[in-house]
Amino acid sequence: GLPARVRIHEVGARDGLQNEKATVPTEVKAEFIHRLADAGLTTVEATSFVHPKWVPQLADAERLFPLVAELPVALPVLVPNERGLDRALALGATRVAVFASATESFAKANLNRTVDEALAMFEPVVARAKAEGAAQVRGYLSMCFGDPWEGPVPASQVVRVCKALLDMGCDELSLGDTIGVATPGQVSALLTALGEAGVPTEALAVHFHDTYGQALANTLAALQYGVTIVDASAGGLGGCPYAKSATGNLATEDLVWMLHGLGIDTGVDLGRLVATSEWMAGRLGRPSPSRTVRALSHK
Ligand code: HMG
Ligand code: MG
Repeated sequence: GLPARVRIHEVGARDGLQNEKATVPTEVKAEFIHRLADAGLTTVEATSFVHPKWVPQLADAERLFPLVAELPVALPVLVPNERGLDRALALGATRVAVFASATESFAKANLNRTVDEALAMFEPVVARAKAEGAAQVRGYLSMCFGDPWEGPVPASQVVRVCKALLDMGCDELSLGDTIGVATPGQVSALLTALGEAGVPTEALAVHFHDTYGQALANTLAALQYGVTIVDASAGGLGGCPYAKSATGNLATEDLVWMLHGLGIDTGVDLGRLVATSEWMAGRLGRPSPSRTVRALSHK
């Protein structure tokens, strides 16, 4: 059966904006996050405390976070290392996320580390976050299904890194289809492999990018397996329109349309969310790729 309720982990302000070429003003990001919270999203990923040269768009994390910190929602932030954790804790962040890779190629490209070096980098981050009062630590896992350099990714690689993240103390694991190549059979197979390895389904979130239009179908497969946490990006923001391997996340509106149609509660006001994505599309100067935003658009 399907769950009665799904918690949406909104990533538009982080995953959605991180590849945006033109710098989005900090005030616009803050208003975006406020509007997402007003639309009923209870987990709104705010930014990343990564090296500013690696992700220039999020270099304003220190100025942004205080503008949203008082919102009555969970505001997770990405922290790759202790330097990032120090920056996040200094601002009072209580939810942090580390981000691992199932493949060596992406670990190198994204973190300048091998898979195991990256895990070793995260270990003190997770331990210190918990010791210093973090309410929750999320572990992202990228390239869980396919990798642009390595092709299809064996489930065993994903299982190994998931277990390492759980062992070091992550409360929640987000399974990323970073380049959006997964199909529902693969999703079921991976979730089955994780279940057989003893990974609790309650700890799992799914994170689909919609490159091949499979994100909703993949989400449904995960819901049928018992997953109740789904990552999505308002308006389907994200990625670069010229890089075929990196398009936007599953659009939150498309997800909400499906979930509400299935009678699954999300707490989200779809009208307010669509209005937010239309407003953001205006700021970014191009229409949202979300089918639901287009269908419900006021213009
Ligand atoms: P590195 O070059 O190996 O860094 O990068 P390092 O550890 O050698 O340090 C070099 C310098 O950077 C030092 O300064 C550090 O202090 C500084 P120096 O001593 O030379 O003056 N530094 C920092 N400064 C500010 N904040 C920090 C920080 N860390 C070091 N946190 C590093 C390693 C991890 C830092 C780098 O690779 C990095 O920042 N990577 C982030 C990449 C990223 O953000 N990618 C996007 C997020 S992941 C994603 O989108 C996937 C996801 O959505 C799921 C999915 O779809 O699959 C989550
Ligand atoms: Mg992503």
